[in-house]
Amino acid sequence: MDLSQIKQRFGIIGNCTELMSAIEVARQVAVTDLSVLVTGESGVGKEFIPQIIHYESPRKHNVYIAVNCGAIPEGTIDSELFGHEKGAFTGATETRKGYFEEADGGTLFLDEVAELTLSTQVRLLRVLQTGEFIKVGSSKVQKTDVRVVAATNINLRNAIASGKFREDLYYRLNTVPIRLPALRERKGDIHLLFKKFALDFADKYHIPAVRLDDDAVQMLTAYRWPGNIRQLKSVAEQISILEPDRHIHPEILSRYLPSDHEVNLPVVTGEKSADYLSDRDIIFKILFQLRREVEELKQKVESGNISAPAQSKVAAAKLLIDEIDNYEEPKEAAEPISESVSLQDATRELIIKALERNGGKRQATAQELGFSERTLYRKIKELNLE
Ligand SMILES: Nc1ncnc2c1ncn2[C@@H]1O[C@H](COP(=O)(O)OP(=O)(O)OP(=O)(O)O)[C@@H](O)[C@H]1O
Ligand SMILES: [Mg+2]
Repeated sequence: MDLSQIKQRFGIIGNCTELMSAIEVARQVAVTDLSVLVTGESGVGKEFIPQIIHYESPRKHNVYIAVNCGAIPEGTIDSELFGHEKGAFTGATETRKGYFEEADGGTLFLDEVAELTLSTQVRLLRVLQTGEFIKVGSSKVQKTDVRVVAATNINLRNAIASGKFREDLYYRLNTVPIRLPALRERKGDIHLLFKKFALDFADKYHIPAVRLDDDAVQMLTAYRWPGNIRQLKSVAEQISILEPDRHIHPEILSRYLPSDHEVNLPVVTGEKSADYLSDRDIIFKILFQLRREVEELKQKVESGNISAPAQSKVAAAKLLIDEIDNYEEPKEAAEPISESVSLQDATRELIIKALERNGGKRQATAQELGFSERTLYRKIKELNLE
């Protein structure tokens, strides 16, 4: 496939040179077995790269497995990656294959690779160098043929300097480095991306697409986008759903663009932006959910598929939707809302419902909610949802 076919196939938007050359490098190294390390801030689209590499490689008919190293508890990561023998630890009632065995002949994407502990890093280095690994609780050396692509949004050189990441592993992983630019480094793509997302959400929610006026486009382009494309997408979704007027002026747009000091993002605090989830985000997500439920109910009513008492409930729900449409965010976030009991309840409900819709699958749930898996795990723990 050529570049534009790849972009189309993966739904990648943008024309900036750095992005194009990142995709080109991925395409070129796909036919080799070289390890690739993808770097770039949170939300820049790192997950496309290993997929391009896999589907452009001779391995494409074999498995592709993506592992979020940051979302797996330290205690089980070795067993997840390398498998375990029956009886290796309490609860190990069966012998289990790890991802390195499952992905034999295919590609393994190790996302957030910097989260691995030093002892897991040793095992990883070995399998990269020799293709050999040992299941937890076993003494038998096994062979596997796996192509590894790793990604991180932290600076691995700093992690090496502070003793958290092995230098030899870094060089082994970083055979081919691919860096994805931050959104603010590709200003020409910002409006393009917004328009694409606005169309997608119009489609998804059966509403006309929002449009920015010229001044709003300027504001959008000048913004820093600390959460990059993930943040842009979520802003497009919020505006699409919450704004009754489809023409967006700068005054409206500015309500959706938190200033730097309001945002706890890596550039500011060294923390992961994917982990950032404010009360405001949660309130938005609850509103989304409410709206979706009402839309579903409305469709049932229209198809005559609903009883009389339920119809009066729908009428009440419609009133609620009106309230959502007229929802005005306070101009100044005067005081940070503390995690009040009712907000906690609402968050709990939001997460439970999303888990139900996704059959308890956490990855899918996190994706639907727009949380990182890590955030979802943390919330589940905080709210005792285990
Ligand atoms: N060029 C692009 N065109 C369209 N959508 C994009 C583009 N880049 C990223 N996205 C979308 O932005 C979101 C974030 O991308 P992705 O999950 O790949 O980020 P990431 O770099 O892996 O971030 P993190 O380090 O937080 O895991 C996804 O929904 C992805 O589909
Ligand atoms: Mg990612």
